[in-house]
Amino acid sequence: MEAIKVGLVGITGYAGMELARLLAVHPSMQLVMACSRAESGKRLGEYYPFLEKLPGCDVIISQFTPEEAQAKCDLVFLAVPAGKAMKMAPKLLQAGVKVVDFSADFRLLDQGVYEEWYGMPHEAQELLSQAVYGLPELYAEKIAQAKLIANPGCYPTSVILGLTAACQHDLISPKNILVDSKSGTTGAGRKPNLPTLFSEVADNFRAYGLVRHRHTPEIEQEISKLLATPVTLQFTPHLVPMNRGILSTIYADLKDPAMTLEKVWDCYNETWKASPWVRVLPLGKLPETRFVRGTMFCDIGLAVDKRTKRLIIVSVIDNLCRGAAGQAVANANLISGRPLDEGLSHTAPLV
Ligand SMILES: NC(=O)c1ccc[n+]([C@@H]2O[C@H](COP(=O)([O-])OP(=O)(O)OC[C@H]3O[C@@H](n4cnc5c(N)ncnc54)[C@H](OP(=O)(O)O)[C@@H]3O)[C@@H](O)[C@H]2O)c1
Repeated sequence: MEAIKVGLVGITGYAGMELARLLAVHPSMQLVMACSRAESGKRLGEYYPFLEKLPGCDVIISQFTPEEAQAKCDLVFLAVPAGKAMKMAPKLLQAGVKVVDFSADFRLLDQGVYEEWYGMPHEAQELLSQAVYGLPELYAEKIAQAKLIANPGCYPTSVILGLTAACQHDLISPKNILVDSKSGTTGAGRKPNLPTLFSEVADNFRAYGLVRHRHTPEIEQEISKLLATPVTLQFTPHLVPMNRGILSTIYADLKDPAMTLEKVWDCYNETWKASPWVRVLPLGKLPETRFVRGTMFCDIGLAVDKRTKRLIIVSVIDNLCRGAAGQAVANANLISGRPLDEGLSHTAPLV
Protein backbone atom coordinates (compact mmCIF):
# COMPACT_ATOMS: atom_id res chain seq x y z
CA MET A 1 0.00 0.00 0.00
CA GLU A 2 1.29 3.45 -0.96
CA ALA A 3 1.82 5.87 1.92
CA ILE A 4 -0.44 8.91 2.31
CA LYS A 5 1.92 11.86 1.89
CA VAL A 6 1.16 14.63 4.35
CA GLY A 7 2.39 18.15 5.06
CA LEU A 8 2.23 20.06 8.33
CA VAL A 9 2.17 23.85 8.49
CA GLY A 10 2.92 25.13 12.01
CA ILE A 11 5.45 22.41 12.91
CA THR A 12 7.00 24.49 15.71
CA GLY A 13 3.78 25.00 17.69
CA TYR A 14 2.48 22.71 20.42
CA ALA A 15 -0.24 21.25 18.19
CA GLY A 16 2.28 20.75 15.36
CA MET A 17 4.76 19.15 17.76
CA GLU A 18 2.11 16.67 18.94
CA LEU A 19 1.17 15.88 15.35
CA ALA A 20 4.83 15.22 14.48
CA ARG A 21 4.93 12.77 17.41
CA LEU A 22 1.85 10.92 16.14
CA LEU A 23 2.93 10.89 12.48
CA ALA A 24 6.32 9.39 13.36
CA VAL A 25 4.57 6.14 14.33
CA HIS A 26 1.62 6.23 11.94
CA PRO A 27 1.68 3.09 9.75
CA SER A 28 0.30 4.67 6.57
CA MET A 29 1.06 8.41 6.75
CA GLN A 30 4.39 9.84 5.75
CA LEU A 31 5.41 13.39 6.70
CA VAL A 32 6.96 14.90 3.55
CA MET A 33 6.62 18.64 4.22
CA ALA A 34 6.97 20.58 7.50
CA CYS A 35 6.60 24.37 7.52
CA SER A 36 7.53 27.22 9.83
CA ARG A 37 8.57 30.76 9.05
CA ALA A 38 11.02 31.03 11.96
CA GLU A 39 12.79 27.65 11.67
CA SER A 40 12.90 27.03 7.93
CA GLY A 41 16.13 25.47 6.69
CA LYS A 42 16.60 23.17 9.71
CA ARG A 43 16.37 19.37 9.62
CA LEU A 44 13.35 18.21 11.59
CA GLY A 45 15.46 15.81 13.68
CA GLU A 46 17.77 18.70 14.56
CA TYR A 47 14.88 20.95 15.58
CA TYR A 48 13.04 18.16 17.45
CA PRO A 49 15.63 15.75 18.92
CA PHE A 50 12.77 13.43 19.97
CA LEU A 51 12.23 12.67 16.26
CA GLU A 52 15.83 11.68 15.47
CA LYS A 53 16.07 8.20 13.91
CA LEU A 54 12.30 8.17 13.37
CA PRO A 55 10.42 8.56 10.06
CA GLY A 56 10.30 12.25 9.05
CA CYS A 57 13.53 13.27 10.83
CA ASP A 58 15.28 14.16 7.55
CA VAL A 59 12.55 16.48 6.29
CA ILE A 60 13.92 20.03 5.92
CA ILE A 61 11.61 22.63 7.47
CA SER A 62 10.42 25.04 4.78
CA GLN A 63 8.41 28.24 4.36
CA PHE A 64 4.88 27.32 3.33
CA THR A 65 4.12 27.53 -0.39
CA PRO A 66 1.07 25.97 -2.08
CA GLU A 67 3.42 24.87 -4.89
CA GLU A 68 5.51 22.66 -2.58
CA ALA A 69 2.32 21.22 -1.08
CA GLN A 70 0.89 20.49 -4.55
CA ALA A 71 4.10 18.79 -5.66
CA LYS A 72 4.53 16.63 -2.55
CA CYS A 73 1.34 16.19 -0.53
CA ASP A 74 -2.00 14.38 -0.67
CA LEU A 75 -3.15 16.17 2.47
CA VAL A 76 -1.97 19.13 4.55
CA PHE A 77 -2.57 19.79 8.24
CA LEU A 78 -2.81 23.49 9.06
CA ALA A 79 -1.71 23.92 12.70
CA VAL A 80 -1.56 27.71 12.48
CA PRO A 81 -3.52 30.46 14.27
CA ALA A 82 -7.06 31.47 13.34
CA GLY A 83 -7.05 33.98 10.49
CA LYS A 84 -4.01 32.35 8.83
CA ALA A 85 -5.59 29.05 7.80
CA MET A 86 -8.32 30.75 5.76
CA LYS A 87 -5.59 32.31 3.60
CA MET A 88 -3.89 28.93 2.97
CA ALA A 89 -6.80 26.48 2.62
CA PRO A 90 -8.29 27.86 -0.65
CA LYS A 91 -4.96 27.56 -2.49
CA LEU A 92 -4.41 24.02 -1.23
CA LEU A 93 -7.91 22.89 -2.21
CA GLN A 94 -7.53 24.45 -5.67
CA ALA A 95 -4.31 22.46 -6.04
CA GLY A 96 -6.20 19.25 -5.25
CA VAL A 97 -4.72 18.86 -1.75
CA LYS A 98 -7.05 17.89 1.10
CA VAL A 99 -6.93 20.05 4.25
CA VAL A 100 -7.38 19.36 7.95
CA ASP A 101 -7.42 22.73 9.68
CA PHE A 102 -6.73 23.00 13.42
CA SER A 103 -7.91 26.61 13.70
CA ALA A 104 -11.43 27.97 14.12
CA ASP A 105 -11.54 29.39 10.59
CA PHE A 106 -13.96 26.80 9.22
CA ARG A 107 -15.71 25.59 12.39
CA LEU A 108 -18.54 28.11 12.57
CA LEU A 109 -21.30 27.75 9.99
CA ASP A 110 -22.32 31.40 10.29
CA GLN A 111 -19.78 33.86 8.90
CA GLY A 112 -21.28 36.68 11.02
CA VAL A 113 -20.76 34.70 14.22
CA TYR A 114 -17.11 34.07 13.25
CA GLU A 115 -16.52 37.73 12.54
CA GLU A 116 -18.17 38.79 15.80
CA TRP A 117 -16.18 36.42 18.05
CA TYR A 118 -12.86 36.39 16.17
CA GLY A 119 -12.89 40.10 15.36
CA MET A 120 -11.80 39.80 11.72
CA PRO A 121 -13.47 39.44 8.34
CA HIS A 122 -13.74 35.92 6.94
CA GLU A 123 -11.74 35.75 3.73
CA ALA A 124 -12.86 32.33 2.49
CA GLN A 125 -16.57 32.28 3.24
CA GLU A 126 -17.24 30.29 0.06
CA LEU A 127 -15.62 27.31 1.79
CA LEU A 128 -17.75 27.40 4.95
CA SER A 129 -20.52 25.30 3.42
CA GLN A 130 -18.16 22.55 2.27
CA ALA A 131 -16.09 22.31 5.48
CA VAL A 132 -17.09 19.43 7.77
CA TYR A 133 -16.84 19.75 11.56
CA GLY A 134 -14.31 17.07 12.43
CA LEU A 135 -15.78 15.34 15.45
CA PRO A 136 -15.70 11.71 14.28
CA GLU A 137 -18.21 10.49 16.87
CA LEU A 138 -20.88 12.72 15.28
CA TYR A 139 -19.85 13.22 11.66
CA ALA A 140 -17.75 10.22 10.53
CA GLU A 141 -19.70 9.67 7.31
CA LYS A 142 -19.52 13.31 6.22
CA ILE A 143 -15.84 13.51 7.17
CA ALA A 144 -15.05 10.54 4.95
CA GLN A 145 -16.50 12.43 1.93
CA ALA A 146 -14.94 15.82 2.71
CA LYS A 147 -11.93 17.67 1.34
CA LEU A 148 -11.79 20.32 4.08
CA ILE A 149 -12.07 19.39 7.76
CA ALA A 150 -12.56 21.93 10.53
CA ASN A 151 -10.87 20.16 13.42
CA PRO A 152 -12.83 21.01 16.59
CA GLY A 153 -11.48 23.18 19.39
CA CYS A 154 -10.08 21.54 22.51
CA TYR A 155 -12.65 22.80 25.04
CA PRO A 156 -15.55 22.14 22.61
CA THR A 157 -14.38 18.52 22.13
CA SER A 158 -14.58 17.87 25.87
CA VAL A 159 -17.94 19.62 26.26
CA ILE A 160 -19.71 18.24 23.17
CA LEU A 161 -18.65 14.65 23.91
CA GLY A 162 -19.71 15.17 27.53
CA LEU A 163 -23.19 16.35 26.54
CA THR A 164 -23.92 14.19 23.46
CA ALA A 165 -25.64 11.30 25.27
CA ALA A 166 -27.70 13.64 27.48
CA CYS A 167 -28.91 15.47 24.36
CA GLN A 168 -29.57 12.37 22.29
CA HIS A 169 -31.64 10.79 25.09
CA ASP A 170 -33.52 14.05 25.73
CA LEU A 171 -32.43 14.09 29.37
CA ILE A 172 -31.72 17.80 29.79
CA SER A 173 -33.29 21.20 29.32
CA PRO A 174 -31.68 23.47 26.71
CA LYS A 175 -31.81 26.31 29.23
CA ASN A 176 -29.22 27.09 31.93
CA ILE A 177 -26.44 24.77 30.79
CA LEU A 178 -23.30 25.80 32.68
CA VAL A 179 -19.82 24.73 31.60
CA ASP A 180 -16.83 25.19 33.86
CA SER A 181 -13.59 24.04 32.18
CA LYS A 182 -9.96 23.89 33.24
CA SER A 183 -7.01 23.56 30.88
CA GLY A 184 -3.27 23.05 31.08
CA THR A 185 -1.01 25.74 29.65
CA THR A 186 -0.22 24.09 26.29
CA GLY A 187 -3.77 25.07 25.31
CA ALA A 188 -2.50 28.65 25.00
CA GLY A 189 0.13 27.75 22.40
CA ARG A 190 3.93 27.86 22.46
CA LYS A 191 4.50 31.49 21.59
CA PRO A 192 6.08 33.26 24.61
CA ASN A 193 3.38 35.13 26.49
CA LEU A 194 3.54 36.74 29.97
CA PRO A 195 0.38 35.11 31.47
CA THR A 196 1.62 31.61 30.62
CA LEU A 197 5.17 31.96 31.98
CA PHE A 198 6.05 29.28 34.57
CA SER A 199 6.11 31.71 37.50
CA GLU A 200 2.75 33.18 36.53
CA VAL A 201 1.06 29.78 36.27
CA ALA A 202 2.81 27.54 38.82
CA ASP A 203 1.19 27.38 42.28
CA ASN A 204 -1.70 29.47 40.94
CA PHE A 205 -5.25 29.00 39.60
CA ARG A 206 -7.31 31.51 37.67
CA ALA A 207 -10.32 31.96 35.42
CA TYR A 208 -10.02 33.84 32.14
CA GLY A 209 -12.07 34.82 29.10
CA LEU A 210 -15.33 35.13 31.06
CA VAL A 211 -18.42 35.69 28.89
CA ARG A 212 -16.33 36.15 25.75
CA HIS A 213 -14.23 33.02 25.21
CA ARG A 214 -14.15 32.20 21.50
CA HIS A 215 -15.08 28.55 22.00
CA THR A 216 -18.52 29.57 23.29
CA PRO A 217 -20.27 29.90 19.89
CA GLU A 218 -18.68 26.65 18.68
CA ILE A 219 -20.06 24.73 21.67
CA GLU A 220 -23.45 26.43 21.27
CA GLN A 221 -23.57 25.59 17.56
CA GLU A 222 -23.03 21.87 18.13
CA ILE A 223 -25.24 21.54 21.24
CA SER A 224 -28.01 23.42 19.38
CA LYS A 225 -27.77 20.83 16.60
CA LEU A 226 -27.89 17.96 19.09
CA LEU A 227 -30.91 19.40 20.93
CA ALA A 228 -32.53 20.67 17.70
CA THR A 229 -33.18 24.07 19.30
CA PRO A 230 -31.05 27.20 19.70
CA VAL A 231 -28.95 26.94 22.87
CA THR A 232 -27.24 29.76 24.74
CA LEU A 233 -24.94 28.48 27.46
CA GLN A 234 -22.45 29.77 30.00
CA PHE A 235 -18.82 28.79 29.42
CA THR A 236 -16.00 29.73 31.81
CA PRO A 237 -12.45 28.44 31.23
CA HIS A 238 -9.66 28.30 33.82
CA LEU A 239 -5.90 27.87 33.58
CA VAL A 240 -4.32 25.22 35.81
CA PRO A 241 -0.63 24.62 36.45
CA MET A 242 -0.16 21.51 34.32
CA ASN A 243 1.12 21.05 30.77
CA ARG A 244 -1.67 19.00 29.21
CA GLY A 245 -5.27 18.16 29.83
CA ILE A 246 -8.77 19.59 30.00
CA LEU A 247 -11.38 18.83 32.63
CA SER A 248 -14.88 20.19 31.98
CA THR A 249 -17.59 20.12 34.63
CA ILE A 250 -20.98 20.58 32.99
CA TYR A 251 -24.23 21.33 34.85
CA ALA A 252 -27.59 20.82 33.14
CA ASP A 253 -31.18 20.83 34.45
CA LEU A 254 -32.83 17.42 34.17
CA LYS A 255 -36.08 17.42 32.19
CA ASP A 256 -37.52 14.72 34.42
CA PRO A 257 -37.00 15.68 38.10
CA ALA A 258 -37.34 12.01 39.06
CA MET A 259 -34.51 10.88 36.75
CA THR A 260 -32.02 8.63 38.52
CA LEU A 261 -28.28 8.40 38.09
CA GLU A 262 -28.66 4.74 37.09
CA LYS A 263 -30.98 5.64 34.19
CA VAL A 264 -28.66 8.44 33.05
CA TRP A 265 -25.73 6.06 33.18
CA ASP A 266 -27.63 3.49 31.06
CA CYS A 267 -28.31 6.21 28.46
CA TYR A 268 -24.64 7.19 28.35
CA ASN A 269 -23.58 3.58 27.95
CA GLU A 270 -26.14 3.07 25.21
CA THR A 271 -24.71 6.04 23.28
CA TRP A 272 -21.05 5.16 23.74
CA LYS A 273 -20.95 1.36 23.93
CA ALA A 274 -19.45 1.02 20.43
CA SER A 275 -17.13 4.02 20.69
CA PRO A 276 -13.39 3.27 20.66
CA TRP A 277 -12.52 6.38 22.65
CA VAL A 278 -15.38 7.61 24.84
CA ARG A 279 -15.28 5.80 28.18
CA VAL A 280 -18.21 6.15 30.57
CA LEU A 281 -16.78 5.48 34.01
CA PRO A 282 -18.49 3.15 36.49
CA LEU A 283 -21.01 4.80 38.83
CA GLY A 284 -19.27 6.67 41.63
CA LYS A 285 -15.99 7.14 39.70
CA LEU A 286 -14.80 10.49 38.39
CA PRO A 287 -12.30 11.02 35.58
CA GLU A 288 -8.76 12.39 35.89
CA THR A 289 -6.67 14.09 33.23
CA ARG A 290 -3.66 11.81 33.82
CA PHE A 291 -5.58 8.75 32.62
CA VAL A 292 -6.11 10.27 29.16
CA ARG A 293 -2.75 12.06 28.77
CA GLY A 294 -1.41 11.78 25.22
CA THR A 295 -4.40 9.67 24.09
CA MET A 296 -7.64 9.91 22.14
CA PHE A 297 -9.79 8.96 25.13
CA CYS A 298 -12.55 11.10 26.55
CA ASP A 299 -13.42 9.87 30.04
CA ILE A 300 -16.82 10.80 31.43
CA GLY A 301 -18.06 10.67 35.04
CA LEU A 302 -21.67 11.35 36.03
CA ALA A 303 -23.63 12.55 39.06
CA VAL A 304 -27.29 13.44 39.65
CA ASP A 305 -28.11 15.99 42.34
CA LYS A 306 -31.59 15.09 43.60
CA ARG A 307 -31.86 18.39 45.51
CA THR A 308 -31.15 20.68 42.55
CA LYS A 309 -32.51 18.25 39.89
CA ARG A 310 -29.32 18.68 37.95
CA LEU A 311 -27.14 16.33 35.95
CA ILE A 312 -23.43 16.94 36.51
CA ILE A 313 -21.05 15.62 33.85
CA VAL A 314 -17.29 15.60 34.28
CA SER A 315 -15.46 15.10 30.98
CA VAL A 316 -11.69 14.92 30.50
CA ILE A 317 -9.50 14.87 27.39
CA ASP A 318 -5.91 15.60 26.44
CA ASN A 319 -6.04 18.99 24.70
CA LEU A 320 -3.10 18.30 22.37
CA CYS A 321 -3.95 14.73 21.31
CA ARG A 322 -7.73 14.30 21.50
CA GLY A 323 -8.34 18.06 21.35
CA ALA A 324 -6.04 18.77 18.40
CA ALA A 325 -3.44 16.52 16.70
CA GLY A 326 -4.92 13.08 17.43
CA GLN A 327 -8.37 14.20 16.32
CA ALA A 328 -6.74 15.63 13.16
CA VAL A 329 -5.13 12.24 12.44
CA ALA A 330 -8.48 10.49 13.00
CA ASN A 331 -10.07 12.86 10.47
CA ALA A 332 -7.20 12.37 8.03
CA ASN A 333 -7.62 8.59 8.41
CA LEU A 334 -11.30 8.88 7.49
CA ILE A 335 -10.82 11.15 4.45
CA SER A 336 -8.02 8.88 3.24
CA GLY A 337 -10.12 5.73 3.52
CA ARG A 338 -8.10 4.36 6.43
CA PRO A 339 -9.50 2.89 9.68
CA LEU A 340 -10.55 5.67 12.08
CA ASP A 341 -8.13 4.67 14.84
CA GLU A 342 -5.10 3.78 12.72
CA GLY A 343 -1.94 4.99 14.47
CA LEU A 344 -3.90 6.23 17.47
CA SER A 345 -3.88 3.31 19.89
CA HIS A 346 -1.87 4.94 22.66
CA THR A 347 -2.25 4.40 26.37
CA ALA A 348 -1.43 7.17 28.82
CA PRO A 349 1.94 7.38 30.60
CA LEU A 350 0.70 7.55 34.18
CA VAL A 351 3.48 9.42 35.93
N1 LIG B 1 -2.68 24.13 21.74
C1 LIG B 1 -3.82 23.46 21.78
O1 LIG B 1 -4.13 22.77 22.77
C2 LIG B 1 -4.78 23.49 20.62
C3 LIG B 1 -5.91 22.67 20.66
C4 LIG B 1 -6.82 22.71 19.60
C5 LIG B 1 -6.59 23.55 18.52
N2 LIG B 1 -5.47 24.35 18.51
C6 LIG B 1 -5.29 25.23 17.36
O2 LIG B 1 -4.15 24.78 16.63
C7 LIG B 1 -3.50 25.91 16.02
C8 LIG B 1 -2.05 25.94 16.50
O3 LIG B 1 -2.07 26.09 17.91
P1 LIG B 1 -0.75 25.95 18.79
O4 LIG B 1 -1.20 25.88 20.19
O5 LIG B 1 0.14 24.89 18.25
O6 LIG B 1 -0.10 27.40 18.51
P2 LIG B 1 1.44 27.81 18.65
O7 LIG B 1 2.11 26.90 19.60
O8 LIG B 1 1.44 29.26 18.91
O9 LIG B 1 2.02 27.54 17.17
C9 LIG B 1 1.59 28.24 16.06
C10 LIG B 1 2.30 27.72 14.83
O10 LIG B 1 1.83 28.44 13.70
C11 LIG B 1 2.94 29.08 13.01
N3 LIG B 1 2.48 30.42 12.66
C12 LIG B 1 2.19 31.44 13.48
N4 LIG B 1 1.77 32.52 12.79
C13 LIG B 1 1.80 32.14 11.49
C14 LIG B 1 1.50 32.82 10.27
N5 LIG B 1 1.11 34.10 10.26
N6 LIG B 1 1.64 32.16 9.11
C15 LIG B 1 2.07 30.88 9.13
N7 LIG B 1 2.38 30.20 10.23
C16 LIG B 1 2.25 30.83 11.40
C17 LIG B 1 4.07 29.11 14.02
O11 LIG B 1 5.34 28.94 13.36
P3 LIG B 1 6.16 30.17 12.72
O12 LIG B 1 5.80 31.39 13.53
O13 LIG B 1 7.59 29.78 12.80
O14 LIG B 1 5.67 30.23 11.29
C18 LIG B 1 3.82 27.88 14.87
O15 LIG B 1 4.42 26.74 14.30
C19 LIG B 1 -4.31 27.15 16.45
O16 LIG B 1 -5.24 27.48 15.47
C20 LIG B 1 -5.02 26.67 17.71
O17 LIG B 1 -6.19 27.38 18.00
C21 LIG B 1 -4.55 24.33 19.52
